[in-house]
Amino acid sequence: MRFTMVRLFWTILLTLEHRGESITRHTNVKCEALDKSFAEFPVCNLKVLGRGVIAENMHIKLLKLPVQKISVNIAVYKKLSGYHPFLFNVTADLCHYLKHPNPMNLLHYIYTAVKPFSNFNHSCPYNVSTNLIYHDIVVKDFVLSDQMFAKIPYPKGNYMLSIKFATDDVWRIRLNTYFDVDLEKQN
Ligand SMILES: *[C@@H]1O[C@H](CO)[C@@H](O)[C@H](O)[C@H]1NC(C)=O
Ligand SMILES: *[C@@H]1O[C@H](CO)[C@@H](O)[C@H](O)[C@H]1NC(C)=O
Ligand SMILES: *[C@@H]1O[C@H](CO)[C@@H](O)[C@H](O)[C@H]1NC(C)=O
Repeated sequence: MRFTMVRLFWTILLTLEHRGESITRHTNVKCEALDKSFAEFPVCNLKVLGRGVIAENMHIKLLKLPVQKISVNIAVYKKLSGYHPFLFNVTADLCHYLKHPNPMNLLHYIYTAVKPFSNFNHSCPYNVSTNLIYHDIVVKDFVLSDQMFAKIPYPKGNYMLSIKFATDDVWRIRLNTYFDVDLEKQN
């Protein structure tokens, strides 16, 4: 069931064409170190680039290198009274994915969407290095594109995409992105 949904999601996304008016946008972003000794966030904010164009910026400083193995959990929540799980909740092995990218999963979709706006350019391990900047993770001016949402069954509303990272089976980082979807604006 879950696989079918992810597959559907992915297939739909691949067949979308761009539309004029924006139907989705960032409303907030929160970067949280669940383990404060693991990471810091010199930058974690939204920036208005133009009319209705809101970009996300993030700088993640990893404090405990090397990192050999990373689990990532991706979950979507919808706001009713409070945020409730919505449709997706996927956990994956990030290092395995980086070595063997599998287009049939949600992680691949998010990774390929964010990658052009980031400095991700190598797979695991993230080692101790003299050039620390190299291992910091920077996302610059990432704009949600309507293709990500336009034809998925996302009812109008407020959503939160929560991405958590774990090493040694302990959740260390949580990145929450809040966004609005308004499909009625379509066409
Ligand atoms: C996602 O699934 C995991 C494991 O099945 C569970 O522990 C977690 O509570 C779920 N999260 C959400 C948001 O449903
Ligand atoms: C990744 O980026 C770093 C820093 O800019 C650079 O030194 C390195 O050669 C790049 N590696 C790859 C595989 O592109
Ligand atoms: C990272 O460290 C491991 C062993 O600690 C080593 O085998 C590997 O080559 C290193 N990788 C990089 C990119 O420096």
